[in-house]
Formats: sequence, C-alpha cells, structure tokens
Amino acid sequence: MDSKRRQLITGISLAGAGVFINACSAKQASSGSATNENTKNEAPKTGEEEGLEVTATEDLMREHGILRRALLVYQESVVKLRQDAASVPADALEKVANLFRVFGEDYHEKKLEETFIFPTVKKAPGAAASYVDVLLQQHTRGREITDYVLAVTKADRIASNSVEPLAKALESFVRMYEHHAALEDTVIFPAWKSATGQAELDDLGEKFEQIEQEQFGEDGYETALKRMEEIESSLGLSNLGMFTAPAPPK
Ligand SMILES: [Fe+2]
Ligand SMILES: [Fe+2]
Repeated sequence: MDSKRRQLITGISLAGAGVFINACSAKQASSGSATNENTKNEAPKTGEEEGLEVTATEDLMREHGILRRALLVYQESVVKLRQDAASVPADALEKVANLFRVFGEDYHEKKLEETFIFPTVKKAPGAAASYVDVLLQQHTRGREITDYVLAVTKADRIASNSVEPLAKALESFVRMYEHHAALEDTVIFPAWKSATGQAELDDLGEKFEQIEQEQFGEDGYETALKRMEEIESSLGLSNLGMFTAPAPPK
C-alpha cells in the first residue's frame, strides 16, 4: 500500500484499524482480479446491491461535491486567517489538503479525468476539446498549491509570515477550482458522455468503481465523505443553516 493511500484511509477512518484492514483485503482481492475479465464483475458493488447504480458521470460529479466541500473549508479559512490567524488550526487545513491530494488529485484527476475523460474529449468534435489543455495546466497548478499548503501546515502553528501568502494561495485555488469543476460538470463530462456509447459508459462505470476499490478499498467515496464531515464539524462548519444568506435590504 502506498503511503498516500495509507494516509487517506488512516486519516479518514472513524473505526480506526477496521477500515484499514478492510482496505488492505479489498486491495488484495481487486489486484488479483484486475486482469481477469471473468472475475472482474464479481467485485461487490454497494450501489448495485442496493439497486442504486451510480453512473460514471454521476460518480465524477459527486466527487466534485466532496472537493467543493473542501473548497468551502478553504474559503472560510481565508476569512479566519485574515481576522485571527491563531484561530485556524494548522492540522485541520493539513487534513483538507491531504484529502484533496489523495482523493482529488491522485484519484479523481489522474486516474479518471487524465486517463479516461480528457483523451476522449480532446479527440471529440466541438468546443469542449479546446478546454483540455487549460484544465491540465490547472491540475498541475493545483498540485503545486497543495504542496505549498501541506508544507505551511506541517508545524503546529502557521508561521506569521506565511499567513497572508497562505490566504492568497487558498483564495486563488478556490477561485480556479470552482470554475474548473463547474466547466467539467457542464461542458467536459457531457461531451465525454456524447462521445462514448451507452454500452461503453456502463463498462466504464464499473471500471471506475474498480479503480476506486483498488485505490481506497470498498468505500472510497463514503470514507472521503465521512472525512470531510469530520473536518467540517471540527471547524464548526457543519451547520448548513449558518450559510443561509441574510435578507436583502428592503
Ligand atoms: Fe479536473
Ligand atoms: Fe474534476
């Protein structure tokens, strides 16, 4: 198991070792059948068991949902950093950056978008292809910013001379990634869907599920969601009502 996956699993785990052991056995099972078409379909699929199949595009979009929740934490942290930097726990930001790295960059971006989505869209007719190079540049820039956030939040406290540079880096990252994910949801994923036949889409839905299991064990998405919820509540951001806008002036 590589160290990043270990970080996500152990970091996310609510039950501790239980999740970790499940992840290891799932990895062994899936890597053993990765090249065997006959056993590939035997991997358990939670959604199918419940009769609720998650399509490939729905899968990608709900992953964006997790990443948007991470962006929300970054955005709220920018405000707090500027008001009272000492009130921002470095380890909470480090956890968000770690989740973004493992779930967003190493899995969603590299294993799905850069491997399956972008190459197909790039060859497809229409305007969507022209966005692919910029989206790739943004993946690269995002990784540089995540490296920076992880470096700055390593210590117990954020150094005073890093507060404003960190606030600026988070602010520009949120701005970039909000646009990035919105463009993918509305232009790139629909273009990919159009360029891919229904039968292939169904196969790829299963393939994505398999990749998720290889990366994280049984419940990669659910585990990442739990992790995000934990981080939000540790920062007092779990009450949706607090984000309801005030009434406009009369
Ligand atoms: Fe992307
Ligand atoms: Fe994406």
